[in-house]
Amino acid sequence: MTAAPLTSPSATRSDADWWRQAAVYQIYPRSFADGNGDGIGDLAGIISRVPYLAELGVDAVWLSPFYPSALADGGYDVDDYRDVDPTIGTLEEFDEMVAALHGVGIKLIVDVVPNHSSDRHVWFQEALASPKGSDARERYIFRDGRGEQGEEPPADWTSIFSGPAWTRVPDGQWYLHSFATEQPDFNWRHPEVHEDFLHTLRFWSDRGVDGFRIDVAHGLSKDLGEVLPSTAELRAMPKDGTHPLWDRDDVHEIYAEWRELFDQYEPPRIAVAEAWVETPERRARYASPEGLGQAFNFDLMEADFDAVHFRDIVTDNLAQSAVTGSSTTWVFSNHDGVRHATRYGLPPRAGRAVKQGAEWVAAGGPEGGIDRELGLRRARAATMFELALPGSAYLYQGEELGLHEVAEIPDEERQDPAFLRTTAADRGFDGLGRDGCRVPLPWTRSGSSFGFGEGGGHLPQPAWFADFSVEVEDGTAGSTLEMYREALRLRTELQGEETLEWDEALSSDDVLAFERPGGWLSVTNFGAEPVTLPAGELLLASGELAAAADGSAVLPGATTAWLRQSAA
Ligand code: NOJ
Ligand code: CA
Repeated sequence: MTAAPLTSPSATRSDADWWRQAAVYQIYPRSFADGNGDGIGDLAGIISRVPYLAELGVDAVWLSPFYPSALADGGYDVDDYRDVDPTIGTLEEFDEMVAALHGVGIKLIVDVVPNHSSDRHVWFQEALASPKGSDARERYIFRDGRGEQGEEPPADWTSIFSGPAWTRVPDGQWYLHSFATEQPDFNWRHPEVHEDFLHTLRFWSDRGVDGFRIDVAHGLSKDLGEVLPSTAELRAMPKDGTHPLWDRDDVHEIYAEWRELFDQYEPPRIAVAEAWVETPERRARYASPEGLGQAFNFDLMEADFDAVHFRDIVTDNLAQSAVTGSSTTWVFSNHDGVRHATRYGLPPRAGRAVKQGAEWVAAGGPEGGIDRELGLRRARAATMFELALPGSAYLYQGEELGLHEVAEIPDEERQDPAFLRTTAADRGFDGLGRDGCRVPLPWTRSGSSFGFGEGGGHLPQPAWFADFSVEVEDGTAGSTLEMYREALRLRTELQGEETLEWDEALSSDDVLAFERPGGWLSVTNFGAEPVTLPAGELLLASGELAAAADGSAVLPGATTAWLRQSAA
């Protein structure tokens, strides 16, 4: 690591379009770096690692929730939207962090969780203390139960984390929580909810935050009459904008309000939606310039490592962004899914790759079922493919080290409500949850919690983390960290118009080759058979290349190479 902070190469790009093709690094704050040795990552830890982020060469950081929280859902259960959790830091430290990031040209996006608060939020506490029918209860979704004594929930709905979606309060009413019990859903028909979120967005924008990641953006607006539909009825309803719970057309009225606020800043604050919707067309609404402006596309995260599938995804998403005028987004890993180095090491199987990874974790991570080396090889090739695409790349902490998912977490140490709300019998695919990608990062090859902090980590780190530590990879030719650094540096240098042209002569069912403006050619070999590369200056490859008899470079399987070709 370099001691002095470097300035990110994009530091000079302060225009309103900075987000369109940004490389955004997601920090899950409790697992990134621990400044005070209490086992929980914090803002002091992040500040101390700003030089690392600058050297990595990312354009922005997306910070997952750092707000006061009882951690019923890793911080996505927010007690107070305008403060910092005392175990993570203070507002003054937050300002220091913003200044440190901005000082090296890195923007900051913070997570906003508007679908639900935590049950410790003052409003929810007030609702509990207030009578049925009171205005305080109206800020959330309270209903009487069914049955003679109201002892049955108002509807048979299941929470996204399994278990019932309604919980009864002492006076007999029930409240809706689409996620954990500790996450009551807001009623977005209440004007104070609108006002309060505008207040929050302004609060952080005024503190210098450059943008927002909007959690469950498709869930805020709900249309619930007196008689609630059953789960079976809900399932039968089309998600075409009229569904009572998800992706309603009128949710965009909220984002229009937010856009007005964002545009009062210079440069305008940006937002990226986490919206799980039926079709790319519906996703496009969230990415509209009159709304949030950008939306995550999780298609690559859900796909197998397959050339045909990847090409379809890229083509569809570029077509969609042409319609909205937004830029595309690409994601392989985040805090909710099994890391891509692990997913790609599993044997091919029909179905969604991301689920397949979860299944392997649920089976206890059997070594017999995985080829870790191949997984990492493919993950590196996939990342270079991603970083060559037009649009924004969202990277998740630790993927730059080639980290695998940690499967070996004892049940009693798991924290994810998706695990805690299920029993072994009904665990299914997602059963063991998301703790395995949230294990504290290894910074050093040895020492207390591999350099995460002076104390331990809040989730156990396996012994093999040593080999993936920053200390081992820093300055080591061919390491995943050095590949990410060089790829991000080159990307900044080569980035141009948001277009690509497929090289049909090179592409096949196993190979994807495309050219970006200025002669930047990216070739990925998804198969096993080596492929001869065309002439051109080799800029970077995700693995070792071989040479053909005539001297031309040969791209082995599961490898990406970037070449610079002279403009035609
Ligand atoms: C999506 C977030 O990414 C996830 O971590 C969280 O559990 C749910 N939203 C609920 O807030
Ligand atoms: Ca700490």
